[in-house]
Amino acid sequence: MFLHSSNTELIIKYLERRLYFHGDLMVKIGLIYKQLTPRDIKVLNSIERGMKKYEYVPLELIEKYSKLPETHIVLILSKLHRLKLVKRKTIAGYKSFRLTYLGLDMLALNMLVRMNVVEAIGDKLAVGKESEIFCALAPGGKRIAVKFMRIGRTSFHMTRRVREWADNPRLDWYKQAKIAAEREYKATKEIYREGGSVPSPIAYNRHAVVTEFIEGIELYRKPEIRDPYAVLVKILDTIRIAYTKVGIVHGDLSEYNVLVDLMKNRPYIIDWPQYVYKDHPQSEELLRRDIEYIIRFFRKQYMVEIDTVKALKYVRGEDEQIE
Ligand SMILES: Nc1ncnc2c1ncn2[C@@H]1O[C@H](COP(=O)(O)OP(=O)(O)OP(=O)(O)O)[C@@H](O)[C@H]1O
Ligand SMILES: [Mg+2]
Repeated sequence: MFLHSSNTELIIKYLERRLYFHGDLMVKIGLIYKQLTPRDIKVLNSIERGMKKYEYVPLELIEKYSKLPETHIVLILSKLHRLKLVKRKTIAGYKSFRLTYLGLDMLALNMLVRMNVVEAIGDKLAVGKESEIFCALAPGGKRIAVKFMRIGRTSFHMTRRVREWADNPRLDWYKQAKIAAEREYKATKEIYREGGSVPSPIAYNRHAVVTEFIEGIELYRKPEIRDPYAVLVKILDTIRIAYTKVGIVHGDLSEYNVLVDLMKNRPYIIDWPQYVYKDHPQSEELLRRDIEYIIRFFRKQYMVEIDTVKALKYVRGEDEQIE
């Protein structure tokens, strides 16, 4: 039995060829996905529900939520454990379970398939500090990108991001990852609606965000850009829209978070979950830093000169033109 989807076969075909890194082990994401029955998903869902209350969810609660007989659940749980979708621990004599990121991936993927957003998932495009990005296909064959957040896997100290929602250090890893996905989706949706240049957001579920796939190259690779000045201005335009129309500052802008479509001579600003609102105490400092990084990069790599002070005035909406 496979998941309920008319497209399951296609998904499996794609998934099976792909490799998925999980901890030290390299396992095939497709092999995992294809082995999951609706009952397995039900048990995963029950664990997820229990994790609202517990770090590790007692077996009894999984039974209660899934309404499956204990003998079945025990078998299913040992299978899910073998597939590395759950972790187990005995707490005060009670067998208890929690999802792993891979387990959460399966729930998000399952939902995105049922939402008719994803039809097939393919190559892993990138493993970031805080996410893994896959190329996928939407029904109809359009290429899309699926970003699974992996917050909490890396120590906060290793990133220079400001996280408004991280005020509560007790927030669990998967809650942080879900908040990050929701933030990224909602921020890019508003910026996109206002005409900013970001990948068009399609949907999100749990810790996964789906956007249009950009046929582009990362700016840090220093691609040969036809008109670098126009690309820089377009980046500043998007920062201006985010600031003046949406009221947010990216906060982690650099050549690593810009994709350039060389055919269209068009940049896309990606990676928004750490944005801060205008009224955040650090917003002005972050805005200045974002702009300085990007301007410096264009000056060094493309000999394009734009004055930082003028650029700041422009993105704040104080000037109508840069020069
Ligand atoms: N919509 C997209 N279309 C095509 N490629 C994408 C898309 N979104 C992300 N990527 C690829 O994935 C990489 C990482 O994306 P992103 O910056 O959003 O994640 P991240 O977790 O912040 O990674 P890092 O920590 O390395 O910055 C990008 O550099 C790009 O190569
Ligand atoms: Mg990034």
